[in-house]
Amino acid sequence: MKKVITYGTYDLLHYGHINLLKRAKELGDYLIVGITTDSFDLERGKLNVRNNLMERIEAVRQTGLADQIIIEEYQGQKIDDIKKYEVDIFAIGSDWEGHFDYLKEYCKVVYLPRTEGISSTMLRNENQRTIKIGIIGSGRMAKRFLEEAKHVNAVVIDSVFNPIHEDLSIFCTETGLRGYSDNMNIFFSNIDACYIASPHNTHYDYAKCAINNGCHVLCEIPFTMNNEQTEELFELSIKRKVILMCALKTAYCPAFSHLINLIKTGVIGDVVDVEASVSTLLDDFSLREFSASQCGGSMTENSYFPLLAIFRILGVAYEQIHFFSKFNWNVDIYTKCIIAYKKATASFKVGLGIKTEGNMIISGTKGYVYVPSPWWKTDFFELCYEDRNCNKKYFYSYEGDGLRYEIREFVVSILNGDISQRYLTMKEIVAMDSILRSFLEKQNLVKI
Ligand code: CTP
Repeated sequence: MKKVITYGTYDLLHYGHINLLKRAKELGDYLIVGITTDSFDLERGKLNVRNNLMERIEAVRQTGLADQIIIEEYQGQKIDDIKKYEVDIFAIGSDWEGHFDYLKEYCKVVYLPRTEGISSTMLRNENQRTIKIGIIGSGRMAKRFLEEAKHVNAVVIDSVFNPIHEDLSIFCTETGLRGYSDNMNIFFSNIDACYIASPHNTHYDYAKCAINNGCHVLCEIPFTMNNEQTEELFELSIKRKVILMCALKTAYCPAFSHLINLIKTGVIGDVVDVEASVSTLLDDFSLREFSASQCGGSMTENSYFPLLAIFRILGVAYEQIHFFSKFNWNVDIYTKCIIAYKKATASFKVGLGIKTEGNMIISGTKGYVYVPSPWWKTDFFELCYEDRNCNKKYFYSYEGDGLRYEIREFVVSILNGDISQRYLTMKEIVAMDSILRSFLEKQNLVKI
């Protein structure tokens, strides 16, 4: 019996797929179809696949062309599959010409002509509403956002708002975007959503104005730095039926999400301590990060990252919190924070003027998780046990600057009207803002 194998995502199954499957089947007597998992697609940069794995499997099954369906989960699996199923022919569309020649060592490789004029990408674009996003602020984050948004379908960056004329016109010349420096209402009336990357102390006002204009909001960290204002914004967003999301990129990164899920299954037992650090040593003291009037400092710049991990794992109901900080130019250039829960502890170090190792260690009753620096851009972690033979390493990819994951989630939430806040809840953001507020009010603070 001649066995043929082929692979694909098969999103929104179309006649191009069916043609390919038919011709692949004709090459032999038995056809195996490998369908990619959702996470493997994410890793490969396919961020906008519409059908989930179960739907895609069902669609291929219904064609009646596959004798066997398998799931493709990792790079290099094709070699394993070919050996395991004793495959004679590997077939794939001609868009992959040459790409799989390395499989010739294991079986015959056939590139079948691709059906012209149809693709899943085309169907996704056709059926999909495009979300027009306006950026508020035109600094470093705005530039990164623009670059990263190119990797997410269904998004058009429409315009930019900045009341400072000079900065705005430089940004518009560089990017070709339409700019607004006054009349916010016109700016909002032309867009579906906005990304707020303006100076920290302007976030609340911009977000409120956007929501009141029926605009979805993705707001950079620090969110508002005031828990009451944050709560007010969320209540308003629910009333106005718009999505309000915090642009804390780690929360949406696939490896970090998986890490949290694993811990929840009890792989390291009960968690009793979370320790995380984030430091970004800067030497240009004229930067806004060192300016007290612009709400600079290590806590405002970096504390949301460790707080995300701590709250995701231990919850927001802590009992005590203490800060130990080193100040310069009236901002904290280093802070160590210790948090006590009823049955656990957590601590983090953040620094702009002091360098620490940016790793994270989560300790439990059965073992611990080690995430090396920079843990907030997680692409690798290890589960470690007393018996080192039981240790397990997990590898992922973290694409580009990582903003594409939060942008994707923002757009998908808008398209589906989904306010479930799977990755970061209102409670967590309010708790982060409450901690930042108490720090800025110098509560429980010891200067060192
Ligand atoms: N295929 C084809 N003709 C098309 C589209 C796809 O022959 N018009 C083939 C691909 O070459 C591949 C298989 O169908 O062998 C599955 O491809 P997949 O990537 O799932 O489909 P696309 O439509 O190419 O998806 P996308 O637009 O997301 O890349």
